[in-house]
Amino acid sequence: MLSEEDVKNLLSLEEIISAVESAFRMKGLGHAQMPPKQYLFMKKYNGDLRTMPAYLEETDAVAVKVVNSHPENQKHGLPTVMATIILVDPRTGAPEAIMGGTWITALRTGAAGAIAAKYLANPNPKTVGIVGAGTQARTQLMGLELVFETIEEVRVWDLNEKAAVKYAKEMESKYNQEFVYSVKSVRNAVQGADIIVTATPSREPLVSAEWVDEGAHINCVGADAPGKQELDPAILTKSKIVVDDWSQSCHGGEINVPLAKGIIDKSDVWGDICEIVAGLKQGRTSQDEITVFTSTGLAIQDAAAAKIAYQKALKQKIGEQVDILNI
Ligand SMILES: NC(=O)c1ccc[n+]([C@@H]2O[C@H](COP(=O)([O-])OP(=O)(O)OC[C@H]3O[C@@H](n4cnc5c(N)ncnc54)[C@H](O)[C@@H]3O)[C@@H](O)[C@H]2O)c1
Repeated sequence: MLSEEDVKNLLSLEEIISAVESAFRMKGLGHAQMPPKQYLFMKKYNGDLRTMPAYLEETDAVAVKVVNSHPENQKHGLPTVMATIILVDPRTGAPEAIMGGTWITALRTGAAGAIAAKYLANPNPKTVGIVGAGTQARTQLMGLELVFETIEEVRVWDLNEKAAVKYAKEMESKYNQEFVYSVKSVRNAVQGADIIVTATPSREPLVSAEWVDEGAHINCVGADAPGKQELDPAILTKSKIVVDDWSQSCHGGEINVPLAKGIIDKSDVWGDICEIVAGLKQGRTSQDEITVFTSTGLAIQDAAAAKIAYQKALKQKIGEQVDILNI
């Protein structure tokens, strides 16, 4: 059994970026099994619960994650997103570990954003605009900082001004050679930014098309369930759209609402990040194009991270041995 604290002590974002990139490659090459995540909707509590199974055949990582998204959880002193992961031995089907998956979710989502930006953004980005100042927004910036050494300015907006101010202070002290500041409008955060990150549970577009410059790259992280969206659909109609997985994205990603309304269709989607990482499709092909990566979060990302946490825990003798099956 590995607690959240154990997992936090075991994993670094750097190693998760590398593990997630390799998981993307495996999926692109057909060496992974991952049915789309399943949802339960608790509408009266404004929340949902998902189950996410995956098998990475090359690394023998088999895992199932149970994860929620409850945007009002802060009122109860709980994170919006909480997760538990069961890692299974593929040879026997026996559980290898049960571990906290909340930090893994944040890390592997930051990793996906970093990898997408590596393949899709123009080189040497200087300015980053962040919309939403919560947990995911933190690991998104951490991931970008690991992939790019050129970031000079970060502007963050949040519906809750205090959250944006807190984020700016925290991130500026972490990356002290940069200017991280909170701004009072989405426009001030994103206009002229080389990379834009959206990480809110919004169901209304927040980013207008006229604020996005040619050549920008956008990581859409918040929309991960039906009805959620953060971008003006007019951005999508003029962009190269890259999904993480078509089945999940058409159901819950940034494209789900514009698809349902007939504003875009499947032919407007360039491909998925797994195909690009596997070298089957190109990423960015011109300096001026706007690229949009829509992340819904893949179970293969969790399986890859959980396997590393387990292997390191065994080596470092971290965690608690519990005989769950009692055999
Ligand atoms: N793509 C993925 O793999 C992935 C992974 C985890 C979470 N998510 C999603 O990302 C989103 C953010 O998750 P988090 O863990 O950072 O949550 P969080 O609660 O830590 O942060 C969200 C921030 O958004 C702000 N916000 C809330 N409602 C808003 C609205 N309507 N408009 C604008 N801002 C609003 C809040 O003030 C908060 O600061 C959620 O929708 C979550 O389901 C996606």
